[in-house]
Amino acid sequence: MRTQVVIIGAGPSGLLLGQLLHKAGIANIILERQSGDYVLSRIRAGILEQVTVDLLHEAGVGQGVDAGGTVHHSIELVFSGQRHPIDVHGLTGGKVVTAYGQTEVTRDLMAARAEAGLQTVYEAAQVQPQGFEGDKPFVTYEKDGATHRIDCDFIAGCDGFHGVSRASVKDMVKEFERVYPFGWLGVLSDTPPVSPHAIVYGNSERGFSLCSMRSLTRSRYYVQCPLSDKVEDWSDARFWDELRRRLDPELAERIVTGPSIEKSIAPLRSFVAEPMRFGRLFLAGDAAHIVPPTGAKGLNLAATDVKYLAGALIERFLERSDAGIDHYSQRCLRRIWRAERFSWWLTSLMHRFPDTEGFGQKIQEAELDYLVNSRALSTSLAENYVGLPL
Ligand code: FAD
Ligand code: DHB
Repeated sequence: MRTQVVIIGAGPSGLLLGQLLHKAGIANIILERQSGDYVLSRIRAGILEQVTVDLLHEAGVGQGVDAGGTVHHSIELVFSGQRHPIDVHGLTGGKVVTAYGQTEVTRDLMAARAEAGLQTVYEAAQVQPQGFEGDKPFVTYEKDGATHRIDCDFIAGCDGFHGVSRASVKDMVKEFERVYPFGWLGVLSDTPPVSPHAIVYGNSERGFSLCSMRSLTRSRYYVQCPLSDKVEDWSDARFWDELRRRLDPELAERIVTGPSIEKSIAPLRSFVAEPMRFGRLFLAGDAAHIVPPTGAKGLNLAATDVKYLAGALIERFLERSDAGIDHYSQRCLRRIWRAERFSWWLTSLMHRFPDTEGFGQKIQEAELDYLVNSRALSTSLAENYVGLPL
């Protein structure tokens, strides 16, 4: 078998890249380790920057977010039992973010791919990118008891943090990492969001909390928890009780509770692998970098990598120019490090760290006080939250 680009991974990065390349007439095949249903069952991101929404439109799948997304003009910070609105729209000269789930983005992209008749091989085992340091790359995989080989011009590693693409170049990458001493317990429920027009970020003496949404009838909430906790430790009743205790009295009173339809614990990590290009193999999205979810940047960064990669490959195939692929890594990494800084900062500001008491705690409180009373620092938060310019 032969194609122009083999894409490893059918998460948002891989599916979006496939769609953008297809629009430009570039043939591609996606190899995914899991089933399509499994990919859709992973509940993750919910907040899209305008750059990401624009890219969905460019890929021809913008109808879903237009119809089902909820535009947010502000966020709210809760600390010391009080709410502090940050007018993101006003502070950024009119920019907003949109609440629309990663599951929905993935579903829209899968539907468009199926409609265009493009090939995705789900449940592909032992996927292995090969020959990418020369000019005849290929990818092998196993399916239904047989080994298959796809020859191609380029390989896109869109296979997430635990994928095979970065593992295949492990001797050539420099890794930068910070692991945080807590996780996020997330609950999805079919209840109206407590705050339908703003995402709420809370810092209380019991730890971080977050009130988000997927639609006007579906909520997504998180609480900071110890990494040793198991999902089974958290009944729905315990979760709702804990969330209420971390918010201000009015929000706590207003929360509509209900049975959870998903509950999971995610560790928090900052991670960057450099570079992102190895001959004819490119890394994009979580395969190359992870941010703690606090700033809602992971999916948005993945989308920008894909924008740059699609542009570079289109330039190469249609204009025979290598300029885009030569600069791919450098262009992505500049934006990635700025998002890493923001996500690390917001994580440090909003969580309780087990080893920080006394001085560190007082500094955090002073910074929160400064943030909500300083137009300069509020503007910095707002402009990072909506996404720095490309
Ligand atoms: P993934 O979604 O991980 O997809 C990679 C795909 O590759 C998977 O389908 C995987 O099965 C497949 N794969 C792996 N290994 C192989 C292999 N060997 N062979 C073939 N296929 C393979 N980001 C935001 O922007 N906003 C948010 O609000 C936000 N909230 C988040 C909340 C939580 C709780 C979490 C955990 C994350 C959040 N993120 C958020 C981050 C966001 O979900 C990720 O950045 C995003 O999923 C990255 O997409 P990706 O396609 O690069 O990787
Ligand atoms: C969501 C996740 C985030 O990391 C965040 O900052 C805001 C919202 C969410 O899953 O909805």
